Amino acid sequence: MERLIEIKNLKKYFSAGGGCVKAVDNVSFYINEGETLGLVGESGCGKTTCGRTLLGIYEPTGGEVYYRGKRIDNVKGKQRQNLKKDMQIIFQDPYASLNPRMTVGDIIAEGIDIFNICSGDDRRKRIEELLHLVGLNKSHINRFPHEFSGGQRQRIGIARALAIDPKFIVCDEPISALDVSIQAQIINLLIKLQKELKLTYLFIAHDLSMIRHISDRVGVMYLGRIVEIGEANEIYDNPKHPYTKILMSAIPLPDPDRKLNVSKIKGEIPSPLNPPSGCTFRTRCPMAQEICAQKAPDLVELKPGYACACHFVKPGKNE
Ligand SMILES: Nc1ncnc2c1ncn2[C@@H]1O[C@H](COP(=O)(O)OP(=O)(O)OP(=O)(O)O)[C@@H](O)[C@H]1O
Ligand SMILES: [Mg+2]
Repeated sequence: MERLIEIKNLKKYFSAGGGCVKAVDNVSFYINEGETLGLVGESGCGKTTCGRTLLGIYEPTGGEVYYRGKRIDNVKGKQRQNLKKDMQIIFQDPYASLNPRMTVGDIIAEGIDIFNICSGDDRRKRIEELLHLVGLNKSHINRFPHEFSGGQRQRIGIARALAIDPKFIVCDEPISALDVSIQAQIINLLIKLQKELKLTYLFIAHDLSMIRHISDRVGVMYLGRIVEIGEANEIYDNPKHPYTKILMSAIPLPDPDRKLNVSKIKGEIPSPLNPPSGCTFRTRCPMAQEICAQKAPDLVELKPGYACACHFVKPGKNE
């Protein structure tokens, strides 16, 4: 299977509050064509920054981004514009991300117009086709965003992202602003579209519960770093990093026995301006020992495609 996207040691640092926030710090992963990598972690851990740096919306502080095996983070000008056709983003907030003064048709056609893909009747037909694809009615073309519910607005956002036939989409918490009753509909729509259009997703979410269904692989982030990454089923059935275990415990489980075994997360996320020494999770970790304050654990590959960054999780053990 082809690796559509790969990032290697990607870094994005921001200067803020007189210091430096390492929002993305040496993050590496790949996404195979047609697959979904779920990226999870608490608010502020760097998920959005990672997605945007990968897309070139933010200039990386360091590291590399590859698309179909070709390095793209240093590509500029027209070539960069062309890459934008292949890579799109769906935003978290369908209320804020749609211009209230534009019609649904013009919103969806944004990319079509920027890239001069078609005009007139062809343009209208393409918009109608996109509306149909995302489960909206073609009569919606001349309406305005405020006439739609949250779920419908997110469908408009999805149609906009699909307009120019992208291959890869960063879905940045596309359902977290929606009613729980609507979330599954949007997830199912994204899964259907992925199959039909052979899309590849980076799917960002706060918690693990909603993305099992859509993810082939999952990466767990904490304070700018990946702490565990691997096949989704393995992460869910046998999480190894203490942080992943705690995130798992936040998922309501039907099995009461499992609930008893899980520890509760303690304390607040440390300030990203002044993260703890060594392993940045140690201040909240039930397993922390002296070594955790002294040395940051490397992200160690336990087996092909599966890696964990904890001093107490080593290859061959904890299976
Ligand atoms: N433009 C910016 N300038 C300065 N700091 C930033 C900027 N964007 C993000 N940050 C900081 O980088 C860190 C990561 O932020 P980011 O938005 O990527 O997290 P996130 O995981 O997407 O959070 P959320 O789940 O709330 O969306 C945070 O500490 C944030 O304050
Ligand atoms: Mg975010």
